[in-house]
Amino acid sequence: MARTLLSYDPEAVYAAKSGLDKSDFEAIKQNLEDIRDEVATKDVELFDGNHDDIPDEKQPLDSAFYLMPEKLLAEYRDVRSESELGRILELAKGLRDEVDRVVVLGIGGSYMGAKALMDACCDPYFNELSRGERGSRPRMYFEGNNVDNDATQGLLKLLGTGKATSVDDSFAIVVISKSGGTLETAVAFRQMLDRLKESVGGDAEKLARRIVPVTGGDESKLRALATSLGCKEMFPVPDGVGGRFSILSAVGLMPAAMLGLDVVKLLDGAATMNEHFRTAPAGENAVLDYAGVCHLAEKKRGMNLRILSVWAKSLECTGLWYDQLLAESLGKKEIGATPITTVNTRDLHSRAQQHQEGSRDKLITNVIVDNWKADSLAVGSMEHDDDGLNSIANKTLPELMTAAIQGTNAAYAEGGRPTADIHLPQVDEFALGQFFQMMMLATVVEGRMIDINPYGQPGVEYYKKHMKNILYG
Ligand code: PA5
Repeated sequence: MARTLLSYDPEAVYAAKSGLDKSDFEAIKQNLEDIRDEVATKDVELFDGNHDDIPDEKQPLDSAFYLMPEKLLAEYRDVRSESELGRILELAKGLRDEVDRVVVLGIGGSYMGAKALMDACCDPYFNELSRGERGSRPRMYFEGNNVDNDATQGLLKLLGTGKATSVDDSFAIVVISKSGGTLETAVAFRQMLDRLKESVGGDAEKLARRIVPVTGGDESKLRALATSLGCKEMFPVPDGVGGRFSILSAVGLMPAAMLGLDVVKLLDGAATMNEHFRTAPAGENAVLDYAGVCHLAEKKRGMNLRILSVWAKSLECTGLWYDQLLAESLGKKEIGATPITTVNTRDLHSRAQQHQEGSRDKLITNVIVDNWKADSLAVGSMEHDDDGLNSIANKTLPELMTAAIQGTNAAYAEGGRPTADIHLPQVDEFALGQFFQMMMLATVVEGRMIDINPYGQPGVEYYKKHMKNILYG
């Protein structure tokens, strides 16, 4: 079961008779396969070659995310503890013995992946568990993703004051910024650093050990600051890997390793998806089929709302990770679908009305979990049956969830609302590695179909420019 591939099934999109037909997909199959060759071969050659040869319309070409899982795994197999992955695992293990809390600072692509991994793979109440119940893995908190006074003060209060006297009181900081100059993260680092200095009682060597920077090259101010602070270990956001494509680099792997997640399995899942992407024909290829159906829905039917409907609470941040990936990659030149994550059954009570009867501008993709981690919990019988549930007392929560998914899909089909299904065999590192890689590749393929360079986010610079002017004059 552990090596099962996730599946993508768009049959219900066509069955909904919403104006999309299988023949539409047949007509773009060759185009999809040509683009696959471009992404899997030509872009790799261009990136590995002389960067002056990269045509303007492909600048920046941040395509190095694609083969990164295979590269990291190969290096780990070859030189183990000296490889990047080996260093990540060793550092994470060492810090687990020293601290009980880790603050991860980062925003956008330098934040969402790690949060998605934690929420998906750890116990739902992980931070509330005792150190023993957590297997000595540290609690994890995320900041540097806002300039919210009260949230920052809340975390500072939680971290306490004065010198830490035990592992339980001690914390470390993972600070992640590719550019090394993002205001939100830099400000939070400065504020948390003050607190960390106090916590280590001014011990400079300890301070340096408790800061783990993940950042870009020599021009990064964070790199300079970490060097001044004496940090010995720094991890890269490699050249050619953009923030929202960096979840499988140290950006996601470092926090995941600290949480004790199986990062090898995660990369293995992504490498497995790469192999599937390279070899399966359109029509049987999760990446090409997802990209193709989304493209058709938008282009032929004007369905420019992209609903990712996740049927597990633990996947909400995975959905938000995809929201960022799609929005920043393809929201350019006045086009690009708008992503929305819904968590069901919760959001059936807030959004389903609109999805069933609102404007016909939505393509819904369910993310369905086939096997739950915990044993199935039954509704249970009760002496007082006023709520009328005794007749389904033996039904379990997974059975209720399946009924909700089937019922919702049937209702949307009746209403001519197109829905597709992604099935995750289970929520674990191997399945998530596949999912993240599938979505990153699909976003690139989709971008190529509409002549949008999926890399870079020039629009984000505008708010930064204005904010800087306001702050610095
Ligand atoms: O996808 C992206 O590139 C962005 O969302 C960045 O990740 C985000 O702006 C943070 O940038 P940085 O890592 O340079 O601090």
